[in-house]
Amino acid sequence: MKILITGGAGFIGSHLLQRLHGKPGLQLTVVDNLDTGCRDYVPADVEFIKADIRSQELAHCFASHHFDAVVHLAAQTMVPFSMDHPREDCDVNLLGLINVLECCRKYQVGSITFSSSAAVYGDNEHVPLRETEPLVPTSFYGITKMTTEHYLRVYHEVYGLNTTVFRFANVYGERQGAGGEGGVVSIFCKLLAEDKPVTIYGDGEQTRDFVYAGDIARALEASLSLQGFHVLNVSTTQETSINQLVAYFEKAAGKKLVVRYAAKREGDIYRSFLDNRELLKVLQLQPEMALPQGILQTYNWYRQEKGGH
Ligand SMILES: NC(=O)c1ccc[n+]([C@@H]2O[C@H](COP(=O)([O-])OP(=O)(O)OC[C@H]3O[C@@H](n4cnc5c(N)ncnc54)[C@H](O)[C@@H]3O)[C@@H](O)[C@H]2O)c1
Repeated sequence: MKILITGGAGFIGSHLLQRLHGKPGLQLTVVDNLDTGCRDYVPADVEFIKADIRSQELAHCFASHHFDAVVHLAAQTMVPFSMDHPREDCDVNLLGLINVLECCRKYQVGSITFSSSAAVYGDNEHVPLRETEPLVPTSFYGITKMTTEHYLRVYHEVYGLNTTVFRFANVYGERQGAGGEGGVVSIFCKLLAEDKPVTIYGDGEQTRDFVYAGDIARALEASLSLQGFHVLNVSTTQETSINQLVAYFEKAAGKKLVVRYAAKREGDIYRSFLDNRELLKVLQLQPEMALPQGILQTYNWYRQEKGGH
C-alpha cells in the first residue's frame, strides 16, 4: 500500500511515522514544507519531498507515485494566528486541501484521512459533544476546518473517494511544538523545565479533552482501510481543566508551577470534550493512554531533549 502523509514532518505526523515505519507492505512518502515540521522526525529511509501542498509539485508527486491512501495532516494549526491572518489560514487549510483533493481525484487515490478538530463545534455546552452536534466555530481556524469537511463530503459523494474525517480533541505528546492547538502541554513542559511561571488565559477552569498522539496514530492507521465516508471524534471523553493539568504537571515534575492568570483569549472555547462512541463503533478503537502517565512521558521526553542540546 502506497501512502502519502502530508505534514508528516510535524508532531502528529512523527507519531504516525513511528507507528507505520517498517511495517511490511507499506510504502510511505512524506510531503512537508517544513514550516513548523522537522526533517529529523522523518526516518532516513522514508521518502521525503520538501514541497508546499498548494504547489504544482504536488500533482507531479501524485502522478509519479499512484498513492492508494493519503493522510492529510499539513495545515496552519494555530487558532490565534487564524484570528490575525484569516487569509493565510484559509489559503493553507482550505485551498491546500482542495489541491490535495484534486490530485486524489485525478490520480484515483483510494482513500483520504483528514485531520479536523474539536474547533469545528465552537462553544457548545452539550458536552460530551457528539459528531451530530451543529457546527458553529468561533475561530477562523474552526471555519476552515468545517468547510474542508464539506469539501471532503462532496468529493466522496461525487467522486467516490473513501474519506475519514477525524475531529481530534487536544492532542499532546513527545515532539509537539509550542504553538499548535494543543500546545498548552508543550508550553507547560518548557516553562516547568526552565522554572518559569506559566500564564493561564481565563480562570483555569476551562476544560479540554487531552488525547495522546500515539493514540491518534492508532486511529490514523486504522482509517487506511476504511470504506465510505465517516466523521469521527478522536478523544478520551475525559474533561480536564487547565488547573487540573497544572496539578498533573506538578506531580510529574515533583515541583510547584508558578501560575499567573491573564484575560481570556479571543476565539477560545470554555468547555471542550468529545464523545468517542462512534470511534469505538466504526474502528473498534479507543484511546489508551491515561493523562497523568502521558504527561509524565511527555515531560520526561522534553527534559531529555533539552539536556541533549
Ligand atoms: N495538535 C492538536 O492538538 C490538533 C488538534 C486537532 C487537529 N489537529 C490537526 O492535525 C494536523 C497535524 O497537526 P500537528 O499538531 O501535527 O501540527 P504541526 O504543525 O506539528 O504539523 C503540521 C505539519 O504541516 C506542515 N505544513 C504546514 N503548512 C504546510 C504547507 N502549506 N505545505 C506542506 N506542509 C505544510 C508543517 O511543516 C508541519 O510539519 C493539522 O491538520 C492540525 O490542524 C491538531
